[in-house]
Amino acid sequence: MNNVRIERLSTGVEGFDKLIEGGIPRGFFVAVVGEPGTGKTIFCMSFINQGIIEGDKNVYVTTEESRESIIKQASLFGWDFEKAIDEGKLVIIDALMGSPGDIWSLTSLNVEDLVAKVIEAKKALGYGRARLVLDALSAFWLDKPAMARKYSYFIKRVLSRWDFTILAVSQYAVTTSLGFGFGIEHIGDGIVRFRKAIVKGELKRYVIVEKMRQTNHDLRMYEVEIVEGVGMRIKKPTVYRKEDTVLPRSVVEKIIESEERKYYEIP
Ligand SMILES: Nc1ncnc2c1ncn2[C@@H]1O[C@H](COP(=O)(O)OP(=O)(O)OP(=O)(O)O)[C@@H](O)[C@H]1O
Ligand SMILES: [Mg+2]
Repeated sequence: MNNVRIERLSTGVEGFDKLIEGGIPRGFFVAVVGEPGTGKTIFCMSFINQGIIEGDKNVYVTTEESRESIIKQASLFGWDFEKAIDEGKLVIIDALMGSPGDIWSLTSLNVEDLVAKVIEAKKALGYGRARLVLDALSAFWLDKPAMARKYSYFIKRVLSRWDFTILAVSQYAVTTSLGFGFGIEHIGDGIVRFRKAIVKGELKRYVIVEKMRQTNHDLRMYEVEIVEGVGMRIKKPTVYRKEDTVLPRSVVEKIIESEERKYYEIP
């Protein structure tokens, strides 16, 4: 038991907050990582929807989908992002379909421009506790992965002054889960990792809290459910079967070797 009171932000995901002593500590920078289709975006949308409910200032940066796609996906869970935008509770910064005529868009994936735009959005939303989703932050350094750590640090340092609690999505290749861990995961105050596996012919999704500073978090992997009209739900803890989520050793070694060549130009 600790008696230092830490303010925690609910994620809005049914069953998730209790894995982390009630929520994400205010001001944290949390990495949300996982392969395609594992639920990262829906988890982040839920966090934003909860922010709208609680009267926080909310900013969602999208690089993988357009603003319209995010609004549509949210509406399938009964979350009205369009209304929140109209009411000045949410800004969605579109970095995919960005056009110069739209003030809430980014026309290049440049970290300095990103930070400036997020601060502009915060000023427009006004003073107070804020939530930020960067989906996906890794998109900002796809062409220069060696800069990931430096950029992550810069973003964390600058934006924490603006009262943001941040979820930063990192898409990683199979290799990163085995030790590459560029950038966000090291800088992050927390890591929420999503996984998927085909078990008995059916796609299953899982989540595990790998790191949450200042928190006696749950150490188990849980099955995740995505339900139309409801959102994301955490089910029961699951037995980790290595063979469900990991490629054969020989394949992994080949991938790591080729990645290393790519990044470090080993002769
Ligand atoms: N209305 C819905 N009802 C049930 N499941 C849904 C619904 N909408 C989306 N899903 C599920 O959610 C998945 C997409 O999840 P999400 O967009 O959060 O993945 P992601 O981890 O962000 O992937 P990526 O890295 O490709 O962006 C879909 O593939 C689908 O299985
Ligand atoms: Mg996504």
